[in-house]
Amino acid sequence: MGPLSAPRCTLHITWKELLLTASLLIFWNSPTTAQVTIEAQPTNISEGNDVLLLVHNLPKNPAAYIWYKGQIMDLQHYITAYTIYTERIIFGPAYSGRETVYSNASLLIQSVNQKDAGSYTVKIIKRGYRTEGVTGHFTLYGE
Ligand SMILES: *[C@@H]1O[C@H](CO)[C@@H](O)[C@H](O)[C@H]1NC(C)=O
Ligand SMILES: *[C@@H]1O[C@H](CO)[C@@H](O)[C@H](O)[C@H]1NC(C)=O
Repeated sequence: MGPLSAPRCTLHITWKELLLTASLLIFWNSPTTAQVTIEAQPTNISEGNDVLLLVHNLPKNPAAYIWYKGQIMDLQHYITAYTIYTERIIFGPAYSGRETVYSNASLLIQSVNQKDAGSYTVKIIKRGYRTEGVTGHFTLYGE
């Protein structure tokens, strides 16, 4: 509960069911590759359940994936990263202990709560140090 945030729903609201929708905002550094997309599964979730952010159309030969909370790709918003060559998972300041990044770049968020709603950005670092980012956004709604 950040003091500066203005949540749509306050704590006295009973969250029977939270709906998760995903809409995508995609930006490109390299238009030559197939479009990377993020798909949230399942589309509808209840608070406390898990959501998987699937990354589709990964570019060939990625070197690493870095997940950020929000759309700002800086250290403060860095959740977790996966390096393909060393198969290492690295955690950043925005890691809550509930996120798991897989070798295919997908991110599992366990036991979703209201604060998890919002945008997530995955930055894909390709060999040769070219990068591209894709942002998936989801919102949790009370019923
Ligand atoms: C999500 O929930 C809404 C409201 O309960 C329902 O209308 C919709 O069909 C659900 N979508 C899926 C994919 O289950
Ligand atoms: C990525 O891996 C996870 C965990 O093994 C799996 O559930 C998911 O379907 C995979 N995603 C894609 C896009 O294949």
